Amino acid sequence: MAESSTTDAVEEVQIKAQGELRSADTLEALEQWRVAYLGRGGEMTRVLRGLGSLPPEDRRAVGAAANRAKTALEDGLAARRGELEGAATSAPIDEDRIDVTLPGRPAPRGGLHPTTLVVREICEIFASIGFDVVEGPEVEWGKYNFEMLNIPKDHPARDMHDTFWVDYADENGDRPILLRTHTSPMQARVMEATRPPVRVVVPGKVYRYEATDATHEWQLTQVEGLAVDRGITFADLKGTLYEFARRIFGEERQVRFRCDYFPFVEPGVEMSIDCFQCGGGGCRICSDTGWIEIMGAGMVHPRVLEGVDYDPSVYTGFAFGMGVERIALLKYGIDHIRLFYSNDLRFLRQF
Ligand code: DAH
Repeated sequence: MAESSTTDAVEEVQIKAQGELRSADTLEALEQWRVAYLGRGGEMTRVLRGLGSLPPEDRRAVGAAANRAKTALEDGLAARRGELEGAATSAPIDEDRIDVTLPGRPAPRGGLHPTTLVVREICEIFASIGFDVVEGPEVEWGKYNFEMLNIPKDHPARDMHDTFWVDYADENGDRPILLRTHTSPMQARVMEATRPPVRVVVPGKVYRYEATDATHEWQLTQVEGLAVDRGITFADLKGTLYEFARRIFGEERQVRFRCDYFPFVEPGVEMSIDCFQCGGGGCRICSDTGWIEIMGAGMVHPRVLEGVDYDPSVYTGFAFGMGVERIALLKYGIDHIRLFYSNDLRFLRQF
C-alpha cells in the first residue's frame, strides 16, 4: 500500500513536471521550474525524502524508481536549458542572416548622352575609312579661327561667327582670343604640325552668338573633317561623304551637293540627303523640299594650304563640317534642341 502510493506519487510528480517543463519557454521560467521540482523544498525532493518512512523491504525498489524519475527530470532540465540558451544566442543571427539566394538590388546605371552617342558613331565611321580622331582647344586664337581659314578681319563672313570674346586686349587694343565658333581652326593646327597625307576628324564644342530656337543653340557640337594629299579630287569628297551618309542614315540614302560659300574652301558645297521620313515627297522634317541639309564641305582653299606651307600645286584636299546635334535631331526624330541640355532623365533614358 505504502509502496504503491509512493510509486504513484513519483509518477504523478514526474508527469506533471515534464508537462510544465515543455511549456517553460524562458530561462527564468526554467529556473522557477527547477526550484519547484528539484529544489530543496521542491516536489520531487519531498517525495524522495518520504522514502525514509517506507518499510525497508520496499525502500530499494521505490528508491530506484524515484531516482530514475529525478534523473529524468534533471536530464530534461539540462536539455531544455540547452534549447533555450541556443535560441537566445541564435535569435540575432537569424535576424542578421543574409539570404544569398535573393536577387541583388540593381545599381543605378548611367548611359551616354545622345550627343556623345552620335559623336562616337560619326568618329567610328570615319576611323573605319582611315581618318584619325583629334581634338583642339575651345578657347582659340582669332588667327586660327579666322585668318588661317581665309576669313580676314572685316570680312562679312565674320558676322555669321560673332561670338564670345575673352576680355583680354593685346598691345594694339585687339582682342585676339575667343571661344571658337567652329571646329575648322583645327584644320590649320593639324596641317601646321604634320606633313601630308593628312586625314583627321575633329569632334568638339563650339560657341556662337545665336538667337536660340528649336534647332539652334549658342553652344553646339561639331565634327570637322580634313583630307589632304597629292591628287585628292572632288570625287574623293563625294565618295567619302556619300559613304558616311549611307552608314549613318541608311544604305538607301541619296545625296545631293549644291554650291555654297565658305571662305576656306573652293569650290564650297552644302550636302543634303534625301528625306528619310517622306522619301522625297515633302514633309515637315524636310520643309517640303524632299532634301535635308546635313553639312558644309569643299576643296581646301589654296590660301589655306599656303598658310601652313603646303604647296597647293602639289597638294589638294577636301574639308567638311557638320553639327552633331542636327544629325542627332534627325537620326532620333527629336523636335527641340533644348532637350539635349535640360537634364531631363525621362528624355535621356531613351537612348
Ligand atoms: N565651319 C563651318 C561652320 O561652322 C562648317 C564647314 C563648312 C566646315 C565647310 C568645313 C567646310 O570644313 O568645308 O559653319
